[in-house]
Amino acid sequence: MKKSKIDYLCRECGFSSIQWSGKCPACGSWDALDRVNIMEKQKTSLQRQPPSKAEGLSVKNERIKTNFSNFNNVLGGGIVSGSSILLSGEPGIGKSTLLLQILPELAKSNSVIYFSGEEIEEQLVDRARRVEINLNNIYFKYTPYLENIAEDVETLNPGALIVDSIQTIQSTAIPSSAGTISQVRECAQNLIKIAKERNVPLIIIGHITKEGVIAGPKTLEHMVDVVLYLEGDSQSSLKMLRTTKNRFGSSSEIAFLQMNEKGFKEVSDNELEAGLGEFSHLPGTSMTMILEGSRLYLAEIQALISPTFSPYPRRVFSGVDFNRALQLLAVVDRRCGLNLARSDVYISTTGNLNIKDRSADLAIIAALLSSYYESTPDKMRFYLGEVGLQGEVRKVPQLERRLKELLKRGYKEVIIPEEPNLEFKNSGLQVKIIKEIRGLKKVFTS
Ligand code: TYD
Ligand code: MG
Repeated sequence: MKKSKIDYLCRECGFSSIQWSGKCPACGSWDALDRVNIMEKQKTSLQRQPPSKAEGLSVKNERIKTNFSNFNNVLGGGIVSGSSILLSGEPGIGKSTLLLQILPELAKSNSVIYFSGEEIEEQLVDRARRVEINLNNIYFKYTPYLENIAEDVETLNPGALIVDSIQTIQSTAIPSSAGTISQVRECAQNLIKIAKERNVPLIIIGHITKEGVIAGPKTLEHMVDVVLYLEGDSQSSLKMLRTTKNRFGSSSEIAFLQMNEKGFKEVSDNELEAGLGEFSHLPGTSMTMILEGSRLYLAEIQALISPTFSPYPRRVFSGVDFNRALQLLAVVDRRCGLNLARSDVYISTTGNLNIKDRSADLAIIAALLSSYYESTPDKMRFYLGEVGLQGEVRKVPQLERRLKELLKRGYKEVIIPEEPNLEFKNSGLQVKIIKEIRGLKKVFTS
């Protein structure tokens, strides 16, 4: 038996109260409490389950492998049954396309339903045909209602669920419109419950705000097991898939994917690094070896320092964290005596891919010094080091692994903050040790 109960829910933060007030006591928003009819289960209907003895529990580690091996790596080996995955990214980055492409693997042994609150069934089929996927066992459903999703899952009993996107789905139990914090929270909670109870994987697409964070309550990220970001420059076909949370594997893995006319395909190291360093003889360019999660890749950094008469010099950075880049600018300005107050400064990375690895600091400083002094090395040179506020260059994690990768690709010149171990003695590696960025200035001015 279910009985109805009146409650008041804040449209902004999801706070619930048994009485109405003009101002939400939790978040302070005015006129945000809505009257909601909540179906409450009678206490007697609650099923009591005793705690399980840990020794007797067995771990089912079945993972569904998608046809993208690097996507599987990012997930820690594949998609875990009953897990909930949040895939977010900017509009048009390729979230729906990527999920359409992994549908056939999810639908191998059981059906899959792709619920969309954004596109109707015909549009989804049209795109699925364009990316040439096998439509066997796949169902599409356009609906903006959570209740419809729950009913369809009950009827079809699918083996996996996709919801595109959480911001376009709403529950009729809550009067606010789709996309509000209370709706997003309510819908996500219910979807995750459905997936866990049926032990089927759930993938939810989430929009991000202008600031680059997932739109909706922060709790959304706490609720799901895995958080993935698909990112990249809208002008470039190269995209990066990144985990920021993973209950079943490492939480800092990345994968590169290339979007072409038939959807995404995997990118090999050779394809990724093709053309890199081609212009390293020009001032303002520097090279580094990035480590994100367990993946190593080469990156090229470019900087341009250009005098300006404007009282407000421009700082335009892409692919590097804005505040981090400002900090490095201040450090190079002060410690190397560059006067950047009357200069515009631009920094970018190849493909504008976001670099999070701090070991790239030294390469960013090198690109700035190279642009400032219009000076470049004769041979392609790599910079590895984290730079602190005093201009000190700190050691980088897994230096030896990075150096080996550089040697494998035939690169021999490096500037690093510490002597590498003995195994590199006869490797032909030409090492220059720099412990402070003042030392790096000398490299570009002598
Ligand atoms: P989409 O998956 O709709 O993005 P999202 O769901 O993140 O909003 O991707 C849309 C973009 O991808 C669109 O600009 C067209 C492009 N695209 C291709 O380049 N090739 C393709 O095969 C497909 C299906 C889309
Ligand atoms: Mg989409």
